[in-house]
Amino acid sequence: MSYPLERVRSDFPLLAREVNGQPLAYLDSAASAQKPQTVIDRELDFYRHGYAAVHRGIHTLSAEATQQMEAVRAQVASFINAASAEEIVFVKGTTEGINLVANSFGRHLLAAGDSIIITEMEHHANIVPWQMLAQERGIELRVWPLQPDGTLDQAQLPHLIDASTRLLAIAQISNVLGTVNPLSDIIPVAKAAGLKVLVDGAQAVMHQRVDVRALDCDFYAFSGHKLYGPSGIGILYGKQALLEQMPPWEGGGAMIQQVSLTAGTTFAAPPWRFEAGSPNSAGIMGLGAAIEYVNDLGLEAIHDYEQSLMHYALEALQQVPALKIYGPAARAGVIAFNLGEHHAYDVGSFLDQYGIAIRTGHHCAMPLMAFYGVPSMCRASLALYNTQEEVDRLVAGLQRIQRLLG
Ligand SMILES: Cc1ncc(COP(=O)(O)O)c(C=O)c1O
Repeated sequence: MSYPLERVRSDFPLLAREVNGQPLAYLDSAASAQKPQTVIDRELDFYRHGYAAVHRGIHTLSAEATQQMEAVRAQVASFINAASAEEIVFVKGTTEGINLVANSFGRHLLAAGDSIIITEMEHHANIVPWQMLAQERGIELRVWPLQPDGTLDQAQLPHLIDASTRLLAIAQISNVLGTVNPLSDIIPVAKAAGLKVLVDGAQAVMHQRVDVRALDCDFYAFSGHKLYGPSGIGILYGKQALLEQMPPWEGGGAMIQQVSLTAGTTFAAPPWRFEAGSPNSAGIMGLGAAIEYVNDLGLEAIHDYEQSLMHYALEALQQVPALKIYGPAARAGVIAFNLGEHHAYDVGSFLDQYGIAIRTGHHCAMPLMAFYGVPSMCRASLALYNTQEEVDRLVAGLQRIQRLLG
């Protein structure tokens, strides 16, 4: 069956708008993706017809809202093939998911003298929480260095691990280079040495099917807004046995069993133990609709379409001689580049005038920028609704900028 590109584009109302008098070419989905009408409708319907506080009341509306929220938890579990819904914690996004692990698992199950491995390609969300923990607790942070082509040398991993190493925290796909880390080769090496593994899936869940049990990772985090869902909602997956050992990191309503001013507090079981306060219930409903959307289209079909568009784009960009592309040829989702010596902001501003939205800057990956010796890069993202025509416009835009700026 051929990919229903036209229908897909019409599902996303924002793609029809103009920017600076030009049809929009939205090439910034890795930062945040646009939303299909079904996601928008699901949130609106919840506010219009189904809204009430969850986990709080016995009245019908509250019970219905709670039941719907828990149904989305089960839906997320099946989306990433978790063993049960209880392994899915609702969080604000990938950042909060990783901070939860650093603050709960990290602060209570790791000790001074332990070490953690991250990679040189990580987003700040998978660096800074570990740095903060390391500084506070006397833990050593080890960095798996990048190779010039933007991949990791797998032979290096065993050399980074010793008796003190407890955790590997690694992106499945780099948000700058599009490198797809071969986790099915990497994770067994870490597990054989007794490490826990956290996977930052922020740039992966929208491009390929994720199976946390096949990966055998201990934690997996992703954000709804990059998966065509609402902002302010994401999930942390954790293996049940591990979540059960972990204390809460935020206290408040909804995460307790019993509170006494004299006898102290006992906590709810996971995942609710990690969900203090009122959740982003409308966001959760929208996340459910986003998962339905990609499931209906089929992650395999999305993957194949995006890969063919990626090949087309990498080929087409050869027509811009001064372009330097960063990262490996085999990649998913993003193409980071610089145009000659021109600053990424200048290039991005010109493209914006042509109606083309790309991302510019350090991409929350300053160590990666330092590795390549540049302050910033441009990044074009390719998502399930992008077209060859948009790629052609990007190429023509870059050629025009080169003619204008020299
Ligand atoms: C690889 C990666 N990790 C983490 C994040 C942080 O995601 P969020 O801001 O949704 O928490 C991003 C967002 O750009 C990302 O690309």
